[in-house]
Amino acid sequence: MPSTAAQSRSAPDALANDLSRIHPANAAFLKAPKRLLIDGAWVEATSGKTFEVRDPSSDEVVAHVAAGDAADVDRAVAAARRAFEDSEWSRMKPTDRERLLHRLADLIEAHADELAELEAIDNGKSVLMARHVDIKHALEVWRYMAGWPTKLEGQTLPISGTLVPGQQYVAFSQREAVGVVGAIIAWNFPLLLATWKSAPALAAGCTVVLKPAEETPLTALRLGELIQEAGFPRGVFNIVTGMGPTAGAALAKHPDVDKITFTGSTEVGRLIVQAAAGNMKKVTVELGGKSPVLVLEDADLDAAIPGVAGAIFFNHGQVCSAGSRLYVAERHFERVLEGVTAQARGIKLGPGLDSSAQMGPLVSSVQRERVMRYVAQGLESGARAAAGGKALGSRGYYVEPTVFHGVKDDMSIVREEIFGPVVVVKPFTDLNEVARTANDSIYGLGASIWTRDVHKVFTLAPKLKAGSVWVNCHSILDATMPFGGYKQSGWGRELGKEAVYSYTESKSLCINYAG
Ligand code: NAI
Ligand code: MG
Repeated sequence: MPSTAAQSRSAPDALANDLSRIHPANAAFLKAPKRLLIDGAWVEATSGKTFEVRDPSSDEVVAHVAAGDAADVDRAVAAARRAFEDSEWSRMKPTDRERLLHRLADLIEAHADELAELEAIDNGKSVLMARHVDIKHALEVWRYMAGWPTKLEGQTLPISGTLVPGQQYVAFSQREAVGVVGAIIAWNFPLLLATWKSAPALAAGCTVVLKPAEETPLTALRLGELIQEAGFPRGVFNIVTGMGPTAGAALAKHPDVDKITFTGSTEVGRLIVQAAAGNMKKVTVELGGKSPVLVLEDADLDAAIPGVAGAIFFNHGQVCSAGSRLYVAERHFERVLEGVTAQARGIKLGPGLDSSAQMGPLVSSVQRERVMRYVAQGLESGARAAAGGKALGSRGYYVEPTVFHGVKDDMSIVREEIFGPVVVVKPFTDLNEVARTANDSIYGLGASIWTRDVHKVFTLAPKLKAGSVWVNCHSILDATMPFGGYKQSGWGRELGKEAVYSYTESKSLCINYAG
């Protein structure tokens, strides 16, 4: 429900979304009350409180959402526990679990255009990007994970049983669901992150309590509706929308949650790890990054220049693996700097629903302030902005694509995660030196190497302390390919077999069959 204050301020603005022509299903969804999903029912928060969700292109309130807190987390965890221990779900055959996951994927596919539009309104990103990246990849992940229930095999173990002579043993290991999973996610890829956590958890047979980011809860709520429609038993998938320090913290420390999985800042990741220690929850945390991009002497510059610009400017730089430190072989430095600067200047900013816009606003005014603080620090410390450096628009949260050069290794713009469309560019002369510089970070999420020399790929890639190393591409993700961080970028991996295994326990069964 738009607030009257927001309506009275609305005037034509090329940088603001026109919400009068959105998909009728989304218009109806935005108007309807947004509650918590607990035990198969949509319910108000115990406190009765709600919070506002804004359109980042206009700062207008587009929805009010239930503000769940610890009491609601208790209810949701109890429902998830019941569903895990004693329900249709716990007795469901793997083939039936697969079918249910595919039915959900079919529904996501059928509603893909609406979901993309909702994501664009909620997050600020381009509706085309949402459709062809967020929703498309989410769909691939649901389909991929739907294949796992029938493939979670154990092993037969050739044990010797030497400790007790005269007995005969057979032993094997089994994979079992870890239990109730708490999932706390960020706002940069809302439906996608909900998927990265929920799809492998459900495939493994776990039940889930999802806490979406307070900035972007809308597609998670639509996902909840589609999960209901697909016919998942009640309590298997629950959603508690709300704030991090209340709902999120309650989930992270809850004694009846078996695993917590988190995507967000390293700062909050540390709090999650501490809270999980109480009952020794299993933990996966996917945190910040400051990913290096290395353009070597022999790189194909015509491909590398748009490629490295995309590495930082994709999703407005609000990507944990964004290529935010660009190191260029000295002889190409000027050309690459000019090329990336031209790319930055050429990007058309506009609201997500304008399909001609290439970059939207940042997700929130808080995020815009955070990014602009870094830009100011960069300028104060003597870095030069070849492009950008300013916020844009009167109401929306736009920041110009910004390219810094003349940077020193100790500047905050070089060391800290900015999480906006800001890149630092620096020359290098030697491969060993650039490997050291690339690794000189508390983070280790991603890195990319741009070269045509296979020898350099295999010498450099093993030296880079990063969970993903891309060659002649950046931030390429796939349902099959594990993704996660070294160092303070996190624990564990999303996607692929490693993700689904992380929602299981291994149980060894040892049988003495001596007569
Ligand atoms: P955040 O880490 O505060 O929020 C992520 C999630 O954690 C949200 O759902 C939030 O409600 C929840 N949360 C916050 N405090 C919590 C607490 N005490 N206990 C449990 N859950 C809590 O991230 P924020 O504030 O949105 O962004 C800050 C910075 O974090 C960004 O500028 C960026 O550098 C980084 N970030 C990294 C992301 C990544 O993909 N690795 C995603 C989002 C942010
Ligand atoms: Mg925060």
